[in-house]
Amino acid sequence: MAKNNIKRIAINTGGGDAPGLNAVIRAATIAALNRGWECIGIRDGYNGLLLPEEYPDGGLIPLTSERVRGITHLGGTILGTTNKGNPMKYPVKGKDGKMHETDRTGEVVQLFKRSKIDALISIGGDGSLTISNALAKKGLRVVGVPKTIDNDLEKTVITFGFDTAVGFATMCLDRLHSTAEAHQRIMVVEMMGRYAGWIALNSGISGTADAILIPEIPYDIRIVAEKIQERYSRGRKFAIVVVAEGARAKGGTYSVVSKELGRADRLGGAGERVSEELQQLTGRESRCVVLGHLLRGGSPTTFDRLISLRFGAAAVRALEEGKSGVMVALDPPTVRYVPLEQATRRMKTVPLDCDTMLTARDLGICFGD
Ligand code: F6P
Repeated sequence: MAKNNIKRIAINTGGGDAPGLNAVIRAATIAALNRGWECIGIRDGYNGLLLPEEYPDGGLIPLTSERVRGITHLGGTILGTTNKGNPMKYPVKGKDGKMHETDRTGEVVQLFKRSKIDALISIGGDGSLTISNALAKKGLRVVGVPKTIDNDLEKTVITFGFDTAVGFATMCLDRLHSTAEAHQRIMVVEMMGRYAGWIALNSGISGTADAILIPEIPYDIRIVAEKIQERYSRGRKFAIVVVAEGARAKGGTYSVVSKELGRADRLGGAGERVSEELQQLTGRESRCVVLGHLLRGGSPTTFDRLISLRFGAAAVRALEEGKSGVMVALDPPTVRYVPLEQATRRMKTVPLDCDTMLTARDLGICFGD
């Protein structure tokens, strides 16, 4: 008799991709196969299950040891992902011809039953884990794995993908120093991270930025301009300003590129805005670089690979122990399991009194406040 009546499990990846997804898939698959369980990959979030007609070669892929061979170091996800197919807010055309958001989670649970899948390992960020929580409440056995370059998930010390993104962003800042200095310019660097400033803060400090603007601290652009002028007057005739995509001026709004039914708002434009304003206020030439999706690509760092492999294996152990409705969380030196309800309750933003912030202030980095 299979332990906890598990014979067949599924794995899916949802939301924006992050380096380490394939390592989680590999560890979870091998750990499941070693227990004698069958392992299935769902393509593109839940779409492989909900829209089988769109996958002539199958929306559900058998995950074998051959299929997960040699993928630990690869970015992206062999299963595909989407941030459009949220079953809690599925866009469906109504009788009025307009698109409406419909809850299809009940249907998803039924589809799992019909496909004889006993449990799901869902790898995702806040959006995907909120869906996992809803499915768990409707009776599906689910264990979540915390993914996101943004590192904005509560109850885990860190999410996988973040370390890779910060490392790449820091390398970009290092490279921008020489061109900024050569042209005596202000270089403004916009970084992803949604409504949390983790990537901007950690790379900004490590890459010795002069100013870092994060969503947690609405900025006054005149303060940033003064800091830059003071720097130029000391003979340091260039400046590096890191801007999180969710940064906004005091009393201002987020820079939103587009709003679409069934998905989170797309952010963008915060860096360009800051760059133009700084050029105007300082009279110095300014250029904006948007790192965007480059932060999500490439091979995971050793740190990300290792926590991804640990998370994948731990998710299987959780199912074996009969757990459900939980997320694997990093709690060095070990991992633990926290209820999905708690993990998705609120976003983890940068605490303004944490020592990383204090370090930045001690180093004289300007936050525009
Ligand atoms: O959550 C990860 C993330 O990369 C955010 O930092 C960013 O705001 C968003 O996804 C971008 O999403 P998309 O790939 O849909 O443009």
